[in-house]
Amino acid sequence: MLLALQKVREEERSKKKQSTSKSSPPIIPSTPLPATPPPATTTINRRPPSLLERIFDVVVAKNLTCQLRILQDPNGLQYGHGATVWDSALLLGKYISIYEGRAALLQKDVKVLELGAGCGLSGLVASCLGVDVTLTDLPNVLPLTQINIDKNKDVLRTAIAFSKFNHEDVHRSKDVVAKPLDWTKTESMWENEKFDVILGADLMYDIKLAKPLADTIARLLASPSSVVIIGHEHREDHVDDEFTQAFLTQGFVLLEVPRKGRWDDDLSIYTLARRNEAQANDTCTEQ
Ligand SMILES: C[S@@+](CC[C@H](N)C(=O)[O-])C[C@H]1O[C@@H](n2cnc3c(N)ncnc32)[C@H](O)[C@@H]1O
Repeated sequence: MLLALQKVREEERSKKKQSTSKSSPPIIPSTPLPATPPPATTTINRRPPSLLERIFDVVVAKNLTCQLRILQDPNGLQYGHGATVWDSALLLGKYISIYEGRAALLQKDVKVLELGAGCGLSGLVASCLGVDVTLTDLPNVLPLTQINIDKNKDVLRTAIAFSKFNHEDVHRSKDVVAKPLDWTKTESMWENEKFDVILGADLMYDIKLAKPLADTIARLLASPSSVVIIGHEHREDHVDDEFTQAFLTQGFVLLEVPRKGRWDDDLSIYTLARRNEAQANDTCTEQ
């Protein structure tokens, strides 16, 4: 009887011991660890996991659509606002590839500048059409811009070979380069640079940048017939007003391009017109 009672107590003690030791891992793993580690499943040359890819189709010619692959780094604090492709860049990309903006680019020997390019989508779309493009941004953003130029080199080569101006000489290459340009500084390297088309997406968001941006555009335009096309996301009226005023001070009026089918209400495409030309033009709406 005593023996039986002792056995029951021992069993209870052993159960209790098992239940209290549940939370700590067993010292000896139930399945033995392999002697050699399993082979790595990641492949060499993979891009860093933080970079997200965005694909954008560009109609280069009747029978050729090219796919740009744009890498964004939403976690890369060093790239600031330039780390991702903004909605107005997607709209600007569309406007210059399939809508009226295309005509401005398809002029012989046109030199195109993209301001605040970030990941560089709009400028790379322009490059697909076979024109010289210079992508610019703050020095800290340029490494990402350059990653995207490099990533799309082969696509650009194919697109440029098929572009309107290369039919006689398919091996002629049009440059796409990335250079630092800070609107708040007047740097000597830009003194003699002039452009026929200036592109910009989502640049009008900080009132401190209104005057520097307007001054930079005025300085870099080649001639009165040069074209400025801006993709814009409306956020705050007073910010839009500040940029409108800064452009007016430089003698420009922001003209909103009539909207197409399914454009987001918050997004617009603007062109810049000289003040007196704009007064004569009643087909566009003044902002
Ligand atoms: C909202 S992001 C737009 C990026 C790109 N255009 C897009 O839409 O995807 C604004 C861009 O303007 C650039 N930027 C801001 N201040 C600038 C300055 N003072 N000079 C040149 N670029 C500037 C930022 O670095 C950033 O790339």
